[in-house]
This record gives sequence, structure tokens and C-alpha cells, in this order.
Amino acid sequence: MTAGAIEKVSDFDLSDWEFWARPMPERERAFELLRAEPGPVFFAEPVVPYAERGPGFYALASYADIVEVSRTPEVFSSAAGGSTNIADMPPEFAEYFGSMINMDDPRHARLRRIVSRAFTPRMIRKLERDVELAASRIVDELLLTGPGCDFVHEVASRLPLKIICDMMGIPESEYRFVLDRTNIILGGLDPEYLPPDNLVETLLTAAAELQGLVQDLAVRRSGKPGDDLLTALVDANIDGERLTLAELGSFFILLVVAGNETTRNAISQGLLLLTLNPDQRELWLSDVDGYTPGAIEEIVRLASPVNFMRRKATRDHEVNGHLYREGDKVALFYWSANRDTRVFAEPYRFDITRSPNPHLGFGGPGPHFCLGAHLARREVAVMFRELLRRTPAIAAGEPERLLSNFINGIKHLPCEF
Ligand code: HEM
Repeated sequence: MTAGAIEKVSDFDLSDWEFWARPMPERERAFELLRAEPGPVFFAEPVVPYAERGPGFYALASYADIVEVSRTPEVFSSAAGGSTNIADMPPEFAEYFGSMINMDDPRHARLRRIVSRAFTPRMIRKLERDVELAASRIVDELLLTGPGCDFVHEVASRLPLKIICDMMGIPESEYRFVLDRTNIILGGLDPEYLPPDNLVETLLTAAAELQGLVQDLAVRRSGKPGDDLLTALVDANIDGERLTLAELGSFFILLVVAGNETTRNAISQGLLLLTLNPDQRELWLSDVDGYTPGAIEEIVRLASPVNFMRRKATRDHEVNGHLYREGDKVALFYWSANRDTRVFAEPYRFDITRSPNPHLGFGGPGPHFCLGAHLARREVAVMFRELLRRTPAIAAGEPERLLSNFINGIKHLPCEF
């Protein structure tokens, strides 16, 4: 179904896993065709080994549709079906993955209020120095190894991992343990992380182990509070409400997974963009501090590390001329919205001066907008500032991409410096 040239919508199928192994230009062509359609196109659901095949989904590819659905959460639910992935969440997964990203208000708002305390500008400022020190140490070590390495392994994955673990008070000895498990959880169907014949068990074991780690730390923390997010979460008490141990476990899984896999891919794709666009590298180098904020937004726009999130209609409702029926699933393809020519002129061009740049890389307008967006921006900015200053000619080779429809991931990226 997905082999051969893509010239019309019937030439490809988003539910076919092979589509997500196709070269990027072909995927881009497919989404151009979807955006050119008068309304959203319906696809069968991808086959996944952990859930029954559902009724299918609408692929929302246009910026306008995604913004409208995002800002109508009272109709387009994150909770219905228990998942923001296309398949509904089977009950045995809910214990680990049923966190605020899969809730609607008022439950969502309650949890978000509790955890937001850890993401206030004051908390992020407190982290700033840690981010700088960590980035500087990563580049120190990189320069010692030279002249080349796997950039994902040696650079991109290390900063977000360290920061999220530090925030939670997880010791360095556990970093590898956490990283390996987040790789599994967001590994899509990639056999490097998930053995095809044992996928469900591998996934559930990884989740249970992460949950075990945080619950252990939380128990040890009681009576011995630390200056970390875990203590803040254990102590958080809003209008008499506290996080239960189960809520703490699934929130932790959400946080380490959302905080690691996404930021890492933004950093890796940033290096790729710099390599492919020497004019933009030169411009950025001419005023590193001045161009960094715009460059980071442009990296997140083009990288769109989170490809989509899914919603389910809780009643009949019309959006931009299309009537959705109660129970319809819609996948909001942020990656596609960020290439919509109705909003972004020359969308494939990496332009660090692009302004305005209202990309949807951190989600659409609505209650689920990325909680870690400020932190992610800081991490990517500090990492590139350090790289550009100390190894300005660093260049990427051919990326090895993750087999996933959900995360636009780079597993390995050779680099030279
Ligand atoms: C470049 C990096 C990142 C990208 C592209 C990204 C993307 C996103 C997107 C698209 C959503 C929206 C989910 C929805 O609407 O259903 C989201 C939500 C979320 N993100 Fe991020 N994220 C990034 C970094 C981070 C970091 C560093 C953290 C935490 C340390 C984080 C924590 C979260 C959480 C907790 C949510 C759920 C918010 C809610 O449901 O209210 N993210 N992120």
C-alpha cells in the first residue's frame, strides 16, 4: 500500500507502519496532500499489539483545524478512551500511563495545579545554573572524546535526562536505568527498543520499574524532605488535596518520558538543521545570544518532536465545515500544522529570524499546552549556546530515525567536530 510514488491521498496509508519508515520528503508530500484536501481524511487504525483495533481516526493536518480542536476541550476530550495515542488505552496500562495528559478538567486542572508549582518561572530560574553547568560538562566531555561520536548518545540525550532526574532527586547512578526505560516507553514499534514478540510485557515492565523507582524515593523522602520536585509533589497540598502514590507514579512516568524524549529530539534535529543550513549557522554565530530565542522556536517548529496528540469527540460538533460525530477520534498532526503554507511562508526553510512563529510544537492553545515548554526552551538554548561557542563547526551525518508514528525521533546521529 505505501510503496511507490505519492501523488494522491490513496497512495499512502497513515495506519501502515511502513509509512512511518518512508523517507522524510515522502512523508512531507503525503501531508501536503492531506492539507490540500477540502476536509479531514479518515484512516483505519494502526494495528498495535496491546489494544483491539478501533474504528479509525481523522487525520487533522491543517493548522486551522488543529487550533480549533485544541481550544474546544469540552467537546474534544483527552480522557475519552484513556489515551492521547490513537488506540484506546487498555485497562492494564492505565495504572502507569493514566496521568494528567489523559484527563479532562476538572480532574486535569486539579493535577495541573499541583504539579505546576514545580514549573513556575522561579523554579525554572533556580534550575538555570544547573542546566548551564550540565551543558558545559557535556561539551567538555565531548571535546575530550573527539573527533566524532553518536550525537544522540553523547550529547542530546544527556542534558534533558540529567535535568529531569535532578529535579526529581534521582541519583546519577540511576540515569541509565531511567533513560533505557523511557526509550522503551516511547519506542513506537522500533525493534531496537521493543522486541516484536514481547512488546507488551517489555512496555509494562519498563513502566512498572519507573513507578517502583519513584515510589521508593518518595517513601524514603517522607520525614526527610529534600529541595527537589519530588518533595514538592509529595508535600503539595492544594485545598486539602494531595497526590496519591499512584498519581505520583504515573505523573513521574509522564514527566520523564515527556521531558526526555522530546527535548532530546529537538537538540538532535537542531544539529541536523544547522548542518543542512550553513547560512543559518553563520548568521546564528554572528550573534549567538541575539539569535538564540528565534532559532529555538524554529528548531521546535521544524522538528515537531511530538508528531500528534489524539482527541475524541464527546458529542456531535462542527469544526471548519466538517461535522464530527460523538466518538470520532481526531489526531492533531502538529508536525503538519507547522508546515502549513497558510501560516508559514516557505515552511521547509529553516529561518532563525522567522517572525512571527506561532508553531504548535508544544501543542495547540488549550489546557494541555506543554507544561515543560519553558524548561525545554532553556535546555535547547543553553545546549546550542555551548556548542556554538566551543565547537562551532560541529556537523551531523545521516540520521537513523525511530520507527514511530508518535515521536519524530532520531535514534542515532553521527557527528564530527
Ligand atoms: C522540545 C521539547 C518538548 C516538546 C516538543 C513537547 C511537546 C508537548 C506537547 C505537544 C504537549 C501537548 C499534549 C496535549 O495537548 O495533549 C505536551 C504536554 C506536556 N509536556 Fe511537553 N514537550 C517538550 C518538553 C517537555 C518537558 C521538558 C517537560 C517536563 C519536564 C514536558 C512535560 C509535559 C507535560 C507534563 C505535559 C502534559 C500537560 C497537560 O496535560 O496539562 N514537556 N508537551
